[in-house]
Amino acid sequence: MANSDGQQTEGLWSLKSLPQMDDKEFIRWQDLLEKRTGMNLPVERKVFLQTSLGIRMREIGCPSYQAYFDMVAKGAKAMVEWTVLVDRLTVQETRFYRDEDAFNLVKDYLCTRPPHALTQKSIEAWSVGCSTGEEPYTLAMIIEEALEAEKLKGYYGVTGTDISIPALAKARAAVYPARKLVTLNQERKDKYFNQLTGNEFAVVPRLKERVCFSRVNVLELKDAPMHGMTVIFCQNLLIYFKRWRRKEILNRLAERLVPGGLLVLGQGEIVDWHNPLLERIPSDNTLAFIRHNERDN
Ligand SMILES: C[S@@+](CC[C@H](N)C(=O)[O-])C[C@H]1O[C@@H](n2cnc3c(N)ncnc32)[C@H](O)[C@@H]1O
Repeated sequence: MANSDGQQTEGLWSLKSLPQMDDKEFIRWQDLLEKRTGMNLPVERKVFLQTSLGIRMREIGCPSYQAYFDMVAKGAKAMVEWTVLVDRLTVQETRFYRDEDAFNLVKDYLCTRPPHALTQKSIEAWSVGCSTGEEPYTLAMIIEEALEAEKLKGYYGVTGTDISIPALAKARAAVYPARKLVTLNQERKDKYFNQLTGNEFAVVPRLKERVCFSRVNVLELKDAPMHGMTVIFCQNLLIYFKRWRRKEILNRLAERLVPGGLLVLGQGEIVDWHNPLLERIPSDNTLAFIRHNERDN
């Protein structure tokens, strides 16, 4: 559709035709999202919710928020539609080497921490809320480089988990557009990627095969099969949760570390949290904890 200036107006028309969501409906959606994903959606984000739901409802020809709520809450296709919706509502922004200080800390830890982490039978790292895979692949690069620096040929594995199935599919494919590689120096680009086309870069098979992905909702960590982790990396995920949930999630993660293992969070993502299994690493630039060795207790 074009207006008198010849401009396309379909987008505007579609936005105008979005149904208004009343407060009661908003609270129902807030509760559902909080209960199932932990996502804390304040009233300031009502427009975001309304727009995201509206776009999806239009795509599938759903006439009202009520009908769409019923569609994701119950019935045969509920899980499929819920998966699509969660993907639309979660923030999946991520980068390779997003927090350089934190990754440097992991490398230092692997190379220097007694008992020497690299001489353990295997190094297991877990990226919690891994989005499209940049974080777990960065962890794999860091571990490779730590092993090389120490001239060791140890085994390692990295697991990336997330609630979003489409994000995990991209992570498994391990193919990224050129703009995603801008945070990597040339040496790492050459070493860890094969150029497929002008704009597409694939993670090299050697690195890719060390990283696996799995769908895990952090509200259901008690069922997650990850144990004995050397490094757990959890950044830019807790911020979406209420404070009591953040603490609960972190207590579950602490239990999954091997004694002597390292937990890395994002700066300022939790305050006033203490877990008796862990000791804070003194650092101005990173928020990280070491699990006590049993013999230290
Ligand atoms: C902003 S991204 C962070 C990605 C990466 N950790 C980083 O720092 O670059 C947040 C991720 O958390 C995921 N997420 C949100 N709620 C979740 C939940 N309840 N369980 C697991 N993952 C969740 C989202 O799907 C998204 O991929």
